[in-house]
Order: sequence, then structure tokens, then C-alpha cells
Amino acid sequence: MSDFINDFWNIYVVVLVIASLLFCAFIILSNRASRPKGGVVELHGHQWDETLAEWNNPLPRWWVWLFWMTIAFAIVYLIAYPGLGRFGGQLNWTSANAYEREVAAADAKVAPLFERYAQMDIKLIAADPEARAMGERLFLNNCAQCHGTDARGSRGFPNLTDSDWLYGGDPETIKASITDGRNAMMPAFSSMIDGEQLRDVVHYVRSLSGLTVDSMRQQRGKAVFAANCAACHGAEAHGNPVMGAPSLADSTWLYGSTEAIITQTVSRGRNGHMPAHGDLLGDDKIRLVTAYVWGLSNNATGAH
Ligand code: HEC
Ligand code: HEC
Repeated sequence: MSDFINDFWNIYVVVLVIASLLFCAFIILSNRASRPKGGVVELHGHQWDETLAEWNNPLPRWWVWLFWMTIAFAIVYLIAYPGLGRFGGQLNWTSANAYEREVAAADAKVAPLFERYAQMDIKLIAADPEARAMGERLFLNNCAQCHGTDARGSRGFPNLTDSDWLYGGDPETIKASITDGRNAMMPAFSSMIDGEQLRDVVHYVRSLSGLTVDSMRQQRGKAVFAANCAACHGAEAHGNPVMGAPSLADSTWLYGSTEAIITQTVSRGRNGHMPAHGDLLGDDKIRLVTAYVWGLSNNATGAH
């Protein structure tokens, strides 16, 4: 309750809570009818269906007491826990610190599990079925929404089960990709290359992986590529793992190989973003998920 923007709402809530409690008490008190002497209960005077009449009996005592108890409970609760505007309660309980305590307790419980692997070589972790199962669970919880539950990716999200890597597939590089994240920078060329030149370079790119192209365009596109693209993708278009520039000479495509998609890639650019997970997961968990990912393409025992 510390995020009210000004005092008005704080006071508003306090007044509302206290007023409702007082109102409840008032309702109980004002309905207190004492039991008539001699046990003769009066009729209300209403009559339905000829003989149906309403007695003016007092409320049952246990029922009235139940109401007083709920009011007493509310008061005790409001002293102990947050509820009265900005007043945080004597117990200092907040949902945030309750959550932190739960996380700390859970971490303490699983820490010994992770400790076993903290010093172990990633390739050895990948060979341990129990560790791989833990890595898979971490993957499903943190990575599957982008890379797919089977880690095969989709358009714009790389497949992690093949041996084709943007940045590199050795354990250390995979770990770095996960820990620090990756930001790919393929610039938009729309202001530099368009019209015939754009079509030419797209045909040249397609020719690199053996797709059908117009050979005249391919010839002309080669020069456009050498001048604009080779710096990142390499003269042979085999890519550059330092900046995550993919090989354009194989049949693996991150965004797609049709003329339309490559045209879009070149004119608008691409900025694949892999979020950093270092702070979120911590080193121990990252080692396990790294081992799992590495195992997917390196035939770790039993990996699928
Ligand atoms: C928000 C989506 C998203 C999430 C979540 C995500 N990734 Fe990624 N990841 C990407 C994208 C996009 C790329 C490609 C970046 C690029 O285009 O350069 C990538 C790249 C990678 C790479 C580099 C692949 C290569 O070819 O070099 C690895 C390894 C990886 N992710 C693993 C993981 C793991 C493990 C997790 C979970 C801990 C994860 N990712 C969570 C989107 C995501
Ligand atoms: C500054 C470096 C840089 C330059 C210059 C550059 N690229 Fe790229 N290119 C990249 C990066 C990095 C990616 C990966 C983008 C991503 O992962 O989101 C990429 C991706 C691509 C892709 C997508 C491949 C796939 O698998 O879907 C194509 C096609 C491509 N580039 C073609 C070109 C062409 C053609 C040129 C020249 C006109 C060019 N690039 C110039 C860095 C560059």
C-alpha cells in the first residue's frame, strides 16, 4: 500500500474501512430487540395468504455474537496486516516479502541439487540423465515460449537442436548466449539498395544455397553482395559468429528463403533479440540448461 500517489486515497481508504466497521456495529445494535417478558412475542402486523403472519422475535444470540466476532476479527486483522490505507500492519507483512521468503526457501531446498553440478564440466553434466531432466524443466519454463517445447524454434527463433549456430555451439558460447543475451544487427538497406539492384542481390543470395534463380541477376547481384554484405556475412557468405551473421550458403534459414522474405530481410533489416537470463536464473541453473541445449545437438546419452 505504499504506492498511493497522494494522501487523499490513503485517507479515503482508511475512512471507508472504519466507516464500514462502524456501520456493521450500528446495524447490530439497532436491531437489538430484547426478549419480551413473559415470553409473549408480538406479531409484526403483516399478514399474507390469510393466515401467514410474521413474529417479532429477537435475533438469535449466537448469531449476533458471530457478527461481533467478525468485527473483532477485522480489527485484529487490520492491526496486524496491511489494510488500513498506507498503514502496513504490526507484522510488517507484504506480498512482496512473502514472495521473497518463499523463493529463498525454495532456492535453499534445491541449492544442494545444483551444487553437485556447479564444478562439473558442461559436457559431463549433459551426460547425466538427472541433470538433463532438470535442464529440460528449466528450458520448458524459461525458453520454450520462444524456441519451442522441442527447441526446434520457428521463424526468427533459432532451432537449437541442429548443428547450425549463429554465435557458436560450444558449451561456453551457448552459456554466453543464455547469460548475456544476444542482439543481432542486420541493417536495413532500403535507402541504399532498391529496385533492380535489390532483386539482383536477392537472386544472388538464393543461388548460394542452390535455389533456382535468374543467372543474369545472380551475376549482377554478386557485386552488390561483395560491396554491401560480405563485411558481415563473409566473402563466401559462410557467416560470422562474432556478430551472429548467419551463413547464407546453407539450407538453414532463420527467417526464410523465399524471394519475398529475403527481399524484406534486406530492405528492412532484422534485429533478433535473445534476452539475457543471467540475473533471472543465476549461474547454477544456467549451467544445467546449457548442458541440456548442448546435449540436443551433440548426442549426449539418451538426448532426443
Ligand atoms: C523472448 C524470446 C526468447 C527467449 C525467452 C529465449 N530466447 Fe534464446 N534466442 C531468441 C532469439 C530471437 C535468438 C536469436 C538471436 C539472433 O537473432 O541473433 C535466440 C538465440 C539463442 C541462442 C543462440 C543460438 C545460436 O544459433 O547461436 C541460444 C543458445 C539460446 N537462444 C538459448 C536460449 C535458452 C537456453 C533460453 C532459456 C533460458 C532462451 N534462449 C530463451 C529468443 C529467445
Ligand atoms: C552489419 C552486419 C551485416 C550486414 C552489412 C549485412 N548483414 Fe545480413 N545479417 C546480419 C545479421 C547479424 C543477421 C541475423 C539477424 C537476426 O538474427 O535477426 C543477418 C541476417 C541476414 C539474412 C537472414 C538469413 C536467414 O537465415 O533468414 C539475410 C538473407 C541477410 N542477412 C542478407 C544480407 C544481405 C543480402 C546483405 C547485404 C545487402 C546483408 N545481409 C548485410 C548482419 C549483416
